[in-house]
Order: sequence, then C-alpha cells, then structure tokens
Amino acid sequence: MSIFYRLYCRVYQRIFKVASYFLNFREPKLLEGLDVLPKFIKDKGFGSVLIVTDDFLHNKAKLIDGLKAGLKEQDINVMVYDKVVPNPTISNIEEGVKCYNEGNCKAIIAVGGGSPMDCAKGIGARIARPNKSIPKMKGLLKVLKKIPTLFAIPTTSGTGSEATVTSVVSNETTHEKYPINDTVLIPSYAVLDPKLTIGLPKHITSTTGMDALTHAVEAYIGSSNTKKTAEMARKAVVLIFENLKKAYDNGEDLTARKNMQLAAFYAGIAFTRAYVGNVHAIAHTLGGFYNAPHGDANAVILPYILEYYGQKAYKKLAELADLVDIKGQTVEEKGKNFILAIRGLNQSMNIPDNVNEIKAIEKAGGVKDQDIPTMVERAFAEANPLYPVPKIMSKKDFTKMYYTIQKK
Ligand SMILES: NC(=O)c1ccc[n+]([C@@H]2O[C@H](COP(=O)([O-])OP(=O)(O)OC[C@H]3O[C@@H](n4cnc5c(N)ncnc54)[C@H](O)[C@@H]3O)[C@@H](O)[C@H]2O)c1
Ligand SMILES: [Fe+2]
Repeated sequence: MSIFYRLYCRVYQRIFKVASYFLNFREPKLLEGLDVLPKFIKDKGFGSVLIVTDDFLHNKAKLIDGLKAGLKEQDINVMVYDKVVPNPTISNIEEGVKCYNEGNCKAIIAVGGGSPMDCAKGIGARIARPNKSIPKMKGLLKVLKKIPTLFAIPTTSGTGSEATVTSVVSNETTHEKYPINDTVLIPSYAVLDPKLTIGLPKHITSTTGMDALTHAVEAYIGSSNTKKTAEMARKAVVLIFENLKKAYDNGEDLTARKNMQLAAFYAGIAFTRAYVGNVHAIAHTLGGFYNAPHGDANAVILPYILEYYGQKAYKKLAELADLVDIKGQTVEEKGKNFILAIRGLNQSMNIPDNVNEIKAIEKAGGVKDQDIPTMVERAFAEANPLYPVPKIMSKKDFTKMYYTIQKK
C-alpha cells in the first residue's frame, strides 16, 4: 500500500472527526424498566405502533407478551413483525415496512438483539424515504430525513444498537453485509430492563458480551475519540471485565446482567462516534458469507487484530489494562497481557480461537479459499478510508489475516 493512500486515509479520517462535531450525535433518552413504556407511549400520543422482533422472542420466549398486553390496555393498536433473522435482510425490512403501513403505525418499538433493532432502523429509514432503496442508503449520511420515533429495547447485551447511528443490513442475494450510518437512525429512546436478558443462553451471553468489548476496544484504540467516547469506552471495558464472566456463569445474576446492559449501551455511545475497526470489517464478511453470528466472529478475531497492531496499540491497551488491574513491567508487556486476558476470557467461556470452529462456519465446511478475495475486497472497502485504526491494513494484510484467524 502506498504511503499516499495511507495519507489519504488519515486525512479523510481527520476530516470526518472534525465534521462529527457538526453532526447531531444525540444520545437516546434512557428509560429504565419495560413496565413504564405503554403509558409513556400513550402519553406521547401514538395510537398505533409496530413491534419489530424475532420469532423466538415472540413465540417461544414470549418476551413481548407483557408489552403487547400493556399497550392494548392503553388502547394502542399493535402490529407485530416477528420474522427478523440473525443478520437481518433487505426482505425483512421491506416486510416490516408493509406491516407498518398496514397498521397505519406512528412509532416503532424494536425488541431484541442487534438484528431486530437494526431491522427496525431500516424500516424507519424506508418509511422516511419511501423512494430510496436500502442498497442506495448504504454508507454514510444517505437517509438524511427524520425516521418515526424509535424505541429500542435490547434483549442481548452486545451490539449497543440502541445507542448507535448504524443499521447493519445483509443482502441475501449478493451475500453482502454492510452498515447504513446516519444520525437520524439513533433511536429516540433506549429502554433498558435487565430482566429481559435473564434467559439469554450462555453462548449468546458470552459472544454478544465480547461484541460489546470489541466496540469499546476498537473505539478506544482508534484516533477519532472525543473525551466522552474515550470515557464511555473505558467504563464499558471495566464493566465487561467485571461482569461478563459472572453473567455467563450465573444467568440469573441480575446485577451482572444490568451491568452488562449498561456496558453494551456505553460501548455503543463510544463506537458510534469513534468508529469500530478491522475486527468488524472482517466479522461482517463472515456474517455475509457464512451467516456467522456477529459476536462469535468478533470474539475470535479481536485478539488476532490487536496482535497485528502490536506496538501501534500497546499504549492504549496498557491504559485499559491498568483499569482492570492487568499487570506488566512495561507498556508493551501490559498491552500484550491485555490481549492475553481477552484470549483467556474467550477460553473461559468456551469461545474458540479459530473462526472455522464457529458453528455456522464449521457447518459450511470452513472458510473457503475461493471466497477470500471477495471478502478481502469488502473488508478493505468497509475499513478504508473510514475507520481510524491504529494500523491501516492493505489487501495483502487482510488476505494474510483471513488465513491467520483460521490458524492456517
Ligand atoms: N447497529 C449497530 O450498531 C450494531 C453493532 C454491532 C452489531 N450489529 C448487528 O447486530 C446483529 C447481531 O445482534 P445480536 O448479537 O444482538 O444477536 P441477534 O439479534 O441476531 O440475536 C441472536 C439470537 O439470540 C436470541 N436472543 C436474543 N435475545 C434473547 C433473550 N433475551 N433470550 C434468549 N434468546 C435471545 C435471538 O432470538 C437470536 O436467535 C448483527 O447483524 C450485527 O451485525 C449492529
Ligand atoms: Fe459489533
């Protein structure tokens, strides 16, 4: 990669950092406890709402029964779109738009992990922009019109989508998975209720928690932090190191669940302005090609990318190490020990250290060599010139990394 291209990336990132001061990076208003929501919505004057969720949460876990009943009690018409799949698709969004219009809805309530929340944002974008397709909104600031009021109710503690400008969408035909980023997509309200995460299975607890850690770490080591995003990232890292394993060991530990919910929210506030990095760029391609769950992919890839950054990241990683009492004689040693601690955390929660051992990828027979060139192109295009990472990766670096994370 030429020095001129690197320079171009750095200048581009700098411009975006400065421009971000002129964008409306508002935070969602925080509501605590699901019980307060129906009356709150009634008081806001919304007579008809669309709930966006997935089949499991609606029909098996029955997680929204109480909310539906509460809304009906307030005489609010409720439409439910519950077909969202993990890695939500353009068809999911279009079906949701139909439901919204059929019910003459005036607001959207997303209940679920990142998938329903991102789908709800996509639905909102299409309601605001009925003549602009989802692929045309890919990238930065392409919605540019207020979406209906969005209430985001996370049921995993990972993506932080309840606080972010992002909707990550998958194109089921091209296997492309990409973010739509626009400040209009920041939900108006984030409703946090740790009780909703009590039934989260161990594996989803661990991997979504590692997604939140990836957000915090990628944001913190990047060069677009503000004082606020750095503080949010630090808070998230501390909460995750102190609570993730506890929530994993005992799902009913309500304090640990609550702290993880806060961690995911804080990490969301951090990365939505300070960006993620190459871990996410690669994870998105594995989601697009093999349907690898987002958190699983990030958890496995994170230590490899941090090792690749090496010297360029140790100082920041050492600062994080200090916060969570990870020792070392030098900055380098602390940085390295922080990466080791991430590997240890993964291992303690049965997360593999090879992407080919992620169930969805294993089922597909592992990452295929012939898919790598396209994934490299896509990861490179997602990361560059936008992500303010410690070390810009060339296509050659990405190619090597796809083999490294398979331990080949
Ligand atoms: N918008 C953003 O800022 C952002 C950030 C990171 C990731 N993402 C995206 O979010 C998606 C991943 O979201 P996710 O990791 O939260 O998973 P998810 O929403 O795909 O859910 C994963 C599984 O967990 C189940 N589940 C959710 N809550 C549960 C609960 N309380 N109890 C039992 N099961 C539960 C779901 O039914 C589903 O089967 C990806 O598409 C990813 O790209 C978005
Ligand atoms: Fe993520």
